[in-house]
Amino acid sequence: MSKTKTKEENALPTVKIYIMGSAHEVPASLTIMKAMEYAGFKIKRGSGCRAGFCGACGTVYRKAGDYRIYAALACQTQVEDGMVLTQLPFIPAPKGKYDVDKLLPTASSILKFYPEVARCLSCNACSKVCPQEIQVMDYVQYSLQGQIDKAAEESFDCVQCGLCAIRCPAEIAQYHVGMLARRLHGKYNMSTPESLQERVAEIDNGVYEEGFNDLISLSKNDLKKRYTERDFVDQKKAG
Ligand code: SF4
Ligand code: SF4
Ligand code: FES
Repeated sequence: MSKTKTKEENALPTVKIYIMGSAHEVPASLTIMKAMEYAGFKIKRGSGCRAGFCGACGTVYRKAGDYRIYAALACQTQVEDGMVLTQLPFIPAPKGKYDVDKLLPTASSILKFYPEVARCLSCNACSKVCPQEIQVMDYVQYSLQGQIDKAAEESFDCVQCGLCAIRCPAEIAQYHVGMLARRLHGKYNMSTPESLQERVAEIDNGVYEEGFNDLISLSKNDLKKRYTERDFVDQKKAG
């Protein structure tokens, strides 16, 4: 499955990793995601933004001679020699259906949709596995105690990768709990920024209607071209 190396690639330091049970020699500078592609795997699922934001690329691995199971975002983690890894498929987790306007920022709102939160064993397995280094157990406990502001703040950097839920012996989908806490916190505990109010008014007044219609009418290739040009314009502005 490995491709023929170019002269430049031959000069690069490489590491040996194991993907789905087979060994591959890959450049040591690559992320897990790029190393898998380098090794010939076509990643159809488990990849989105490739930049550490979408949480689609949750990966587990072991290192040579190390008993521990590590978890990481494949697009953000560099390969290491002896890494034995696999990508995770989508992990289903029940998601509460609610109207946040009809809820209050209390523990009851959390427990109504995620009663399993009360089963938390305080084992901290979720915090240990989180690639964002979030204190997941803490935000679960804050939610259970009705400290919605703290739950929202602690879970703020969650990318919804699902790794915490896989490790949870109480079968809690922590990231859905954190999302509800942030929605409640945003609605009830925070004031609406003036700039957001202005932007919403612009949307209501149809300021962006023509631009959206223009984008919707574009072909895929034209849309790609527009996107690239937009980056170019932004960079020029930044410079
Ligand atoms: S809290 Fe859970 S879902 Fe969110 S980033 Fe951490 S491990 Fe992933
Ligand atoms: S893994 Fe589950 S049971 Fe353990 S602390 Fe986290 S939420 Fe609680
Ligand atoms: S692909 Fe989006 S976080 Fe890795």
